[in-house]
Amino acid sequence: FLIVFLLCSMSKELIVSKIESGTVIDHIPAGRALAVLRVLGITGREGLRVALVMNVESRKLGRKDIVKIEGRELTADEVNIISAVAPTATINIVRNYEVVKKFKVTPPEVIRGRFRCKNPTCITNAPREPAEPTFLLVRREPPLFVCAYCGRYHELGDLL
Ligand code: CTP
Ligand code: ZN
Repeated sequence: FLIVFLLCSMSKELIVSKIESGTVIDHIPAGRALAVLRVLGITGREGLRVALVMNVESRKLGRKDIVKIEGRELTADEVNIISAVAPTATINIVRNYEVVKKFKVTPPEVIRGRFRCKNPTCITNAPREPAEPTFLLVRREPPLFVCAYCGRYHELGDLL
């Protein structure tokens, strides 16, 4: 009975198996896993093994998504951009099946090229030779960014 119970509770948690090495992005708000991949620029064509877990139970969040990227250790600089879509995310670096590093995402000081400015007349939205959208962090809690070109303020939700 005990063994059956253990197997059941284990299989309940392990929808997707543990990874050998790479990056696990945990505590993503439910339903945002695809947005996280989009923001990271991961399309699936890189050949990386990627697992998505969506809408699973979480003690902290009620429901959450998880993204597991095998064979690649993402750096804080690379992942902080996802705070725009997943401010609650925890990054786990896994080596030899063990979590060797764990950190929370924090809003980056500068975001280049990922999102569009909300101001339709901003030069970054110009049809010919548009400037690369650039946003500067002006407040951390809650995060607020300003367009470096037109000065329009953007909350995280506006950038999505
Ligand atoms: N994980 C994984 N493969 C591994 C090790 C961990 O996919 N070899 C995943 C776990 O499934 C979990 C996340 O990485 O989703 C974090 O693992 P761990 O730190 O062991 O879990 P918790 O202690 O529950 O994390 P937290 O305290 O951040 O909630
Ligand atoms: Zn602008």
